[in-house]
Amino acid sequence: MTATDEDFSRHLSRWGTHSAKWDLLAKDLGENAIALSVADMEFVSCPEVREAIADAAALGAYGYTEVFDDFAEAATAWMTRRHGWSCEVEDVHFFPRVVQCVAALVDHVLPRDDRPVRVVTLDPAYSPLLEVCERAGTDLVRVPMRDTAASASIDWEALEEALADADLLLWTNPHNPTGRIWSVDEQRRLAELLRECRALVLSDDIHCDFERPGGQRYSALASVAKDLWMSGRIVHCASPGKTFNIAGLEATAICVHGPLGAELEAAKRRMGLHNPNYFAIPAAIAAWTKGDAWVDALAKEIDANLEAARSLLARLLPEARVSDPDGTYLLWIDASAYIGSEADLVRAERAASVTVSPGPDFGPAYDRFFRINTALPRQELLEGITRLAGALTRN
Ligand SMILES: Cc1ncc(COP(=O)(O)O)c(C=O)c1O
Repeated sequence: MTATDEDFSRHLSRWGTHSAKWDLLAKDLGENAIALSVADMEFVSCPEVREAIADAAALGAYGYTEVFDDFAEAATAWMTRRHGWSCEVEDVHFFPRVVQCVAALVDHVLPRDDRPVRVVTLDPAYSPLLEVCERAGTDLVRVPMRDTAASASIDWEALEEALADADLLLWTNPHNPTGRIWSVDEQRRLAELLRECRALVLSDDIHCDFERPGGQRYSALASVAKDLWMSGRIVHCASPGKTFNIAGLEATAICVHGPLGAELEAAKRRMGLHNPNYFAIPAAIAAWTKGDAWVDALAKEIDANLEAARSLLARLLPEARVSDPDGTYLLWIDASAYIGSEADLVRAERAASVTVSPGPDFGPAYDRFFRINTALPRQELLEGITRLAGALTRN
């Protein structure tokens, strides 16, 4: 089976599937709603993945499954082919989700007797990872980025200061919500700061398969800072969840060199995480072994969607500042010229019957920002933007 153009233009109805994006977040907006919120896609997955899932479903017996080397072999071969970096098979550890790996670190691996675990993140940030840290009682330091809807750069002095006594840095590459892919120079600079402190770094690279053609190339922090990788201070997270629209199946490859791997395995057992979801492993292996051509086509489609969305936004909301992401399928929008607070955004969403991700989901300072997801058929994306812009400018 191969992908067809229709896979990226066909309307999918996900109502009634217990979808977080539709059945929860868009539930009051009527069947005409357009959801531009949660970071999953309105595209069917790669044909090879669907086939693997259909074959597994056809068996009819859905008992416990296990993780064997073929999972790590598929992950490492994908990372090598697509990103020019990988690790040894024994350095790969299955976790259902990235968020559970963060929980394992802050709840079980890093706690110490003398003080709370100290976690550093850039701000804005994907909040469920931070929620795990907050609920674990960590001290969380947010380092504000500069000019987030444009250059989205790092305040290196502030990051250095925050890292001085940190236990964990949550690093996201590409960055959600800004879409920045960190350059080799930026990651070298980060590595210098890390060499001056003792923090572990969790590099959450869940969006790394989405690079814009001709844009900033993605590189794994572990490939830029080999010494930090070898000393076991980088926890690299790879996942087919976003790339193949299988986040609901829960399969993540957590890569780390050295004894921390065994500590994470022990933490996983303490959290009661054993035996993956029945569909997780076959889907991940099919994705990582057979999905290249489909992802290439998807990346072009997303790039065209981002372009089309940006030019429509420039026309309809000329005073908004809109990110020009290096990667991801997300646009981060400073709508201060149109909204005074999140309440104005909520009113516009209701009037337009469109959902977006509100800025405060990514940090308290962003109540006049929002994020839109462009991974849906182009016509629907543009219709959603047109309706939302109409409601924002009528406010
Ligand atoms: C940067 C980032 N990390 C992690 C996740 C969630 O990953 P998981 O479902 O594997 O916890 C998301 C989902 O949107 C994300 O954007």
